[in-house]
Parts: sequence; structure tokens; C-alpha cells
Amino acid sequence: MENMKKEAGGQARTFFVETYGCQMNFSDSELVEGLLSTAGLVPAGSLEEADIVLVNTCGVRDHAEQRVIGRLGQLRALKDGAPGKILAVIGCMAQRIGEQILERAPWVDLAVGPDSYRRLPELIAELSLGGGVQLAQLEFDSAETYADLRPLRQDSASAWVPITRGCDNYCTYCIVPYVRGRERSVDPDTVEAWVRREVKTGAVEVVLLGQNVNSYRHGDMDFAGLLRRLQKVEGLAWIRFLTSHPRDLSDSIIRAMAECSKVCEHLHLPVQSGSNRVLERMNRGYSREYYLERVAFLREAIPGIGLTTDVLVGFPGETEEDFAQTVSLMEEVEFDYAFTFRYSPRPGTVAERSEDDVPDREKARRLDTVIQLQRSQTRATLDRLTGQVFEVLPIKEAKTGRGRLQGRTRTHFDIFITAPVSAIGRVAKARITGNTGMNLLGELTE
Ligand code: SAH
Ligand code: SF4
Ligand code: F3S
Repeated sequence: MENMKKEAGGQARTFFVETYGCQMNFSDSELVEGLLSTAGLVPAGSLEEADIVLVNTCGVRDHAEQRVIGRLGQLRALKDGAPGKILAVIGCMAQRIGEQILERAPWVDLAVGPDSYRRLPELIAELSLGGGVQLAQLEFDSAETYADLRPLRQDSASAWVPITRGCDNYCTYCIVPYVRGRERSVDPDTVEAWVRREVKTGAVEVVLLGQNVNSYRHGDMDFAGLLRRLQKVEGLAWIRFLTSHPRDLSDSIIRAMAECSKVCEHLHLPVQSGSNRVLERMNRGYSREYYLERVAFLREAIPGIGLTTDVLVGFPGETEEDFAQTVSLMEEVEFDYAFTFRYSPRPGTVAERSEDDVPDREKARRLDTVIQLQRSQTRATLDRLTGQVFEVLPIKEAKTGRGRLQGRTRTHFDIFITAPVSAIGRVAKARITGNTGMNLLGELTE
């Protein structure tokens, strides 16, 4: 690809990806980085140095999109006096409003949706020919899984492994099915080969990714079967996965989690609301009672399991009584951590047709209530752990302070450990010495 080289000295062109949104997006960015590297481009140390800047975007809430719009405004300056520089918007927001972005931000050169990343090298090559054109590639391809690509992995000890893409659930508030297309599962041979390859190159844990991994299915293989199969991969220490839809959390998945020693004792199980009336109108496909029953079964089958969740407040028609049900569910379950969101109407979704009738101030109050409740529950849980010894996996050097590593417990707490860099990537035992209110602090026991 001659036109992808810089004229001066034939030096390969450089790229940088800035990522917003969920783990799927961060994992996709690693795939895009791998793809561009294979095409002969070179990762740049920073966005400023890069010839090609890609912003991988999220469209799940209006706030997420506004952040990107602001960011694109800032990035305009990068292109001043740098005619060869390419600015691309990729990901979910590109899929949703790529054409509009190109129109309103003429300094953006390229918009590419999540099913079209394979075309990035040729589109970049085309742009490199100049001429000031803008390009968009926004078609869905429900067969695309990128299963043959090699990600450029950020953390040596932990690897993301996408096992499903897209989503068919159509929760009434959610944009994801509209920007990520139909759900599809990667075949189990490929998943296993992917995991083996990551282990061979240093991964100690894998994090299986999908909007709803519980509905993974390929031929006869379901998610429980996949966990049992990956349990047998030698050299792999920990298996995690995200996200689980409560409706599809079958007994057989819970049994597989309990029986597979490598599967960590953690589950991210977004509840969204504690009110049956709201859950129904969200099209979540489960009731409050069912959710609580799943939690009870999980805690019985997997003692000490860490539970985290997502909570959405201010859904259209959510009354004070509905909200009280959410609070009481959180009090009952006592999650380790909760990601809390205020409802944001998304264009084209079913809920958007209902009046967004919970006033902003009330949404803010409800959000603050669940944040404060969760904070105190998280702190109480962390306080109880002081003095105990846990298996931990140090993943990288901590950004804050020298001599500290950042890692995770099997129950998914972030932990800062006083330990040498050589401890990275090895499962070890750590004694909990305290916490920050959000994360654990600890030291290795040997
Ligand atoms: N697939 C995952 C969630 C993906 S989106 C699941 O089903 O749980 C992550 C979280 O964003 C959701 O769990 C929800 O709490 C929140 N979210 C999604 N759409 C939203 C919207 N329109 N407004 C506010 N929060 C939203
Ligand atoms: Fe959105 Fe629901 Fe799919 Fe999760 S399961 S991505 S909340 S539609
Ligand atoms: Fe956002 Fe797309 Fe993930 S909309 S939450 S980045 S799937």
C-alpha cells in the first residue's frame, strides 16, 4: 500500500485511537489497532503525534454523545497546518449519526460503524490520496465477528475476548441494538483458539465480552458449555465475563460457574429497576422476585460471590413508589458496586415515544439517593474485608504513586498492592490492609 507511506523517507504513517463507552468499545479499539498495525501503520505515542486519529464513540446516553461532540471541536485544532492528518469517528455514535457528524464537523474525514472496521485500512488509504473528500462506511454486517483479527493488547496479564456482538434484546430505553446490529456468537473453536493464543502471549485472565453473554449460542454450544470448555485451557488462571442479562442467567450457567474453578466469583448483573411495573415497560423480561431469586441461588451456589449491577433512574412514568422499590431492592441485595444512570431518551427507541416525564431535578435527586446508598454499602463491604487474605492478580503499575500495582481480586474489587513490578501477571495472595472507599489496599503475603 504505497499511498499509506509518508513521502518523506517512506516512514509508515502513525495512528492513535481514543476510546469512549463500554468494554466492548475498548476491546474493539484493540481490534482496530491490531488491524491497522497489520496494514503497516504504526501506533503513535500520543494523539498529537499521530497522523491518523480515530475517536471510538459511545451513544448510549446523550451525555456520552455531547462529550464526543465537544472533543471533536477540540480536535479540530489538531488539523490546523497539518493537511495530511486524518480524523476518523468510529463506533456506536458514528453508526447512529455519522452522516450528520460529517456534515456539521467538516474537519472530520471519516465515519465508520462497528461492523465496518475491516474497511478502515482501504478508507484511510483512499483519504491519504487527498482531495478533501469525506467518507462514511455505516452498513451492518450481521455475519461480522472479527474472529480472525489479532487485537493489540494493552494489558499483558488480562485479555478481552469478544464472544458475541450486537444485541437482540431491545430494552425499550436502549440504543445498542440500533447501533450494534443483530446478536451473533463467535464459534467455540475460534473462542478457544483465541483464548489459547492470549495465554501463550502472557494473559493470565480472560474477560469474555458481549452485551449479553448469557445468550451465547453457536450450534449446540451454549454459554455454560463454553465456560466448561475454557476451564480446560492450560495456563489460564482466571475467567471473567461481562455482561449477564438476568433473564438468561440459567441454572446451568450458575452451576458451570460454581463448578469451574477458573471462573471468578463475580457477576455483573444489571437490574435497572426494582419495580415490576418499570421492568415490564423496559422490556427486561424478568420481575423483581425473579431477580432476587437468582441472587439467592447465586449466593448459595457460589459462596462469597461479588455482585455488581447497573441501575437506571427516572425512566418515563417512574413514580416515587417505583423508585422506592429500586432502593429497597438495592438494600436487600447489597451490591458490591453499582453503576448508576439517569434516564436519557434515545432517538428511535420505544421509550422515546413516551413522555420523558420525570423532571430533571427529580432524576438528579433519585440518582443522588442511589449513589449515596451504594457508596455506603460499598464502604461497609470493603471495611469488612480488612485483614482478610485474597487471591489477587496484579495487572499493571498504578498511575498513583510508585511501588504500587493495580490489580483485581477474584470478586472483582480493584486493589492497589504494594509490590514490585515483577509481581505483575502472577496470581498471588494479598492481605487487605485498608481501602479508599472505592478500592482495596493490600500487600502480598509472601
Ligand atoms: N448490555 C448491558 C448494558 C449495556 S448499556 C445490559 O443489558 O445490562 C450499559 C448501561 O447503560 C445499561 O445497563 C443501562 O443501565 C444504561 N443505559 C442504557 N440506555 C440508557 C439510557 N437511554 N439512559 C440512561 N442509561 C442507559
Ligand atoms: Fe441495551 Fe438491553 Fe441489549 Fe443491554 S440487553 S445492550 S440494555 S438492549
Ligand atoms: Fe456505548 Fe456502544 Fe457500548 S453505545 S455502551 S459503546 S455498545
